[in-house]
Amino acid sequence: MLVISLDSEKIIMVNESFLRRTGYSRSDIINRRPLELNIWEDSKEFYKLRKCISDNGVVNSIEVNFRTKSGELRTGLTCIDVIQLNNEKCVLIAASDITERKQFEKEMARLDRLNLVGEMAAALGHEVRNPITTVRGFLQLLEDKKELSSFREYFDLMIDELDRASAIITEFLSLAKNKTIELKEENLNHILTAMLPLLQSDSAKMDKSVHLELSDIPALLLDEKEIRQVILNLVRNGLEAMPPGGRLTIKTYREDTEAVLAVQDQGNGLPPGVLERIGTPFFTTKENGTGMGLAVCYSIAARHKAKIDIETGPAGTTFLVKFTLH
Ligand SMILES: Nc1ncnc2c1ncn2[C@@H]1O[C@H](COP(=O)(O)OP(=O)(O)O)[C@@H](O)[C@H]1O
Ligand SMILES: [Mg+2]
Repeated sequence: MLVISLDSEKIIMVNESFLRRTGYSRSDIINRRPLELNIWEDSKEFYKLRKCISDNGVVNSIEVNFRTKSGELRTGLTCIDVIQLNNEKCVLIAASDITERKQFEKEMARLDRLNLVGEMAAALGHEVRNPITTVRGFLQLLEDKKELSSFREYFDLMIDELDRASAIITEFLSLAKNKTIELKEENLNHILTAMLPLLQSDSAKMDKSVHLELSDIPALLLDEKEIRQVILNLVRNGLEAMPPGGRLTIKTYREDTEAVLAVQDQGNGLPPGVLERIGTPFFTTKENGTGMGLAVCYSIAARHKAKIDIETGPAGTTFLVKFTLH
């Protein structure tokens, strides 16, 4: 809560909760003009509020983005009223911090989208996979016939394309919400070490490198097949994001009550507008992308009650998969 005098346009009162939320001290705030503080996401937010007050006298529950002293961007549901305080006309600004709630709603919307697609995929996938298997079988049979040997290349191409279609369906099926998984106590570091030769041979073909920086973490309840898929998808994206010579680092470490798997690349970061859409099935910026990789990762993480955070900037992107320790 803040009180600003309309005469002097200075802040004359602030409560403890505001200071706690924003990290400012009382002396940082009192007697300052609101725009002198670095608290607004940008000055437009402030002018928007001011216009609202002068038009309506009150502001009822609008979302305002504000910055804490350390620069973190948060969202407050804000109400404003004009009051008389010691014969001085003032505005009272009260806000409740809804950053976490908004984040949660976003996650839920993402999961809803995933579940719907997953259910459709499960129904469709089985129906489509059977005919594909049949056609593939006959193609293989024909390919081996002597009289058709001049068409060998075509047969190979057809089989490859069918395999590609099958692989997409398999990825789709893994989005199904009620997919059963087999959770066992596993050591994530062992899984990574076992995968390293495969990852390194993938990256060497692209003239890039993969490195492990593992530290001691407790055993986790994992479905090994699914975790391998997450690692593969994140590593592929990281490799694809970097120019030749790029270095990809996979780290594991413990952070408070979480075990973290971090996949860090030296690419150019996520293009603007991509962060919000990431994890939506079929969302891709690549010419030959399927847009399924991260959707699958989010779905697997949800089944493991793990969270995925993304840190991105011009020096690269890190995907952090955070498992809760019990
Ligand atoms: N490490 C990364 N660096 C930059 N962009 C990324 C990275 N990982 C994912 N992306 C972006 O997210 C999109 C979706 O990724 P994904 O679901 O794996 O599908 P695909 O790789 O088939 O495009 C990519 O097209 C890309 O724009
Ligand atoms: Mg991908």
